[in-house]
Amino acid sequence: MVGIAVLGAGRIGKIHATNVASNKSARLIAVADPYASAAQSLAGALGADAMTDCEAAIDRNDVQAIVIGTPTHTHISLMLRAVRQGKAVLCEKPIDLDMAKSLEAVEEVERLNGRVMLAFNRRFESTFAAMRAAIDAGEVGEVRQVIITSRDPGLAPEDYIRHSGGIFRDMTIHDLDIGRWLLGEEPVELTAMGSRLVDPALMEKYDDYDTAMVQMKTASGKQCHINNCRNAVYGYDQRIEVFGSKGMLLQDNLRPTTLRRWTQDATDAREPLLNFFLERYQQAYKAELDAFIEALAQNKPLPTTVQDGLKALRLADCAVESVNTGRAIRV
Ligand SMILES: NC(=O)c1ccc[n+]([C@@H]2O[C@H](COP(=O)([O-])OP(=O)(O)OC[C@H]3O[C@@H](n4cnc5c(N)ncnc54)[C@H](O)[C@@H]3O)[C@@H](O)[C@H]2O)c1
Repeated sequence: MVGIAVLGAGRIGKIHATNVASNKSARLIAVADPYASAAQSLAGALGADAMTDCEAAIDRNDVQAIVIGTPTHTHISLMLRAVRQGKAVLCEKPIDLDMAKSLEAVEEVERLNGRVMLAFNRRFESTFAAMRAAIDAGEVGEVRQVIITSRDPGLAPEDYIRHSGGIFRDMTIHDLDIGRWLLGEEPVELTAMGSRLVDPALMEKYDDYDTAMVQMKTASGKQCHINNCRNAVYGYDQRIEVFGSKGMLLQDNLRPTTLRRWTQDATDAREPLLNFFLERYQQAYKAELDAFIEALAQNKPLPTTVQDGLKALRLADCAVESVNTGRAIRV
């Protein structure tokens, strides 16, 4: 049994704590959040200790691993505190918004042989994973192009936008990771465009963009194209196409049911898409957590690492630079 403390009882912390509590090889020891009521309600519901001090939760003797679901600027110090004590970490993305700080942290994690998994949950989504498996099995031959569409249903509140680090480091970072993963080769060149079409005044205020495109190319010429928007009126739009020398793989959106309706007003009408990431990636968060615990319990390599976090952040930084300079950037 792996004793786990979940740090952060917000949107993502709730998901992780619930998944830890349901895993047979783990025990949810504590939920820590500086807001006592948040920690208490989540910990109470799951039979764990509520704590307001994240560092004290890491230091507990009965805690062997931590899950970091706190705001991004807290990730590095919590991660390093755990690694210095030889404890394993599942850390939410991104490592940090700053590349220099992230590099320094990764250097220490690696020097101490720290076991840190970066929470790129989409790799564990069953259709995404089936896509990667199909590529590995040679079903589409050599991958030539990966096209990723990822659009949020609605613009996040201003407070979220203010602290997000911008669309590329906050939102696109998932797609940059999936792009690298599906291409199977590191991008060496990146071009990005950013536009302010949903809420120009808000985006201007925070020097951010609500609509973005990224194109990446690998050394052998494989291409990846990412489409993002903070607002799609029809819901959370998550689609991927992988095109290769022997065929194509297409991953469509999910709906609550597969029901299709034909009436006087519409044909082939289907239900709206699953609303947002908590619903769309529910299975993926659980599979991610299960993979983390399985790797710890069986002493296997972690499926994603701090290097994945660093590489995705580097690509996000290149996207910002490309938008600012209007140039293609060498990664
Ligand atoms: N992988 C994903 O799909 C995904 C989705 C959402 C968020 N995230 C990441 O998870 C992290 C948390 O995001 P969220 O949406 O759950 O945020 P949130 O605001 O809903 O929750 C954060 C929690 O941390 C607590 N907190 C605030 N300051 C703290 C501090 N200094 N130390 C410890 N805890 C503190 C808050 O009380 C809150 O309960 C972010 O890094 C974000 O990028 C990842």
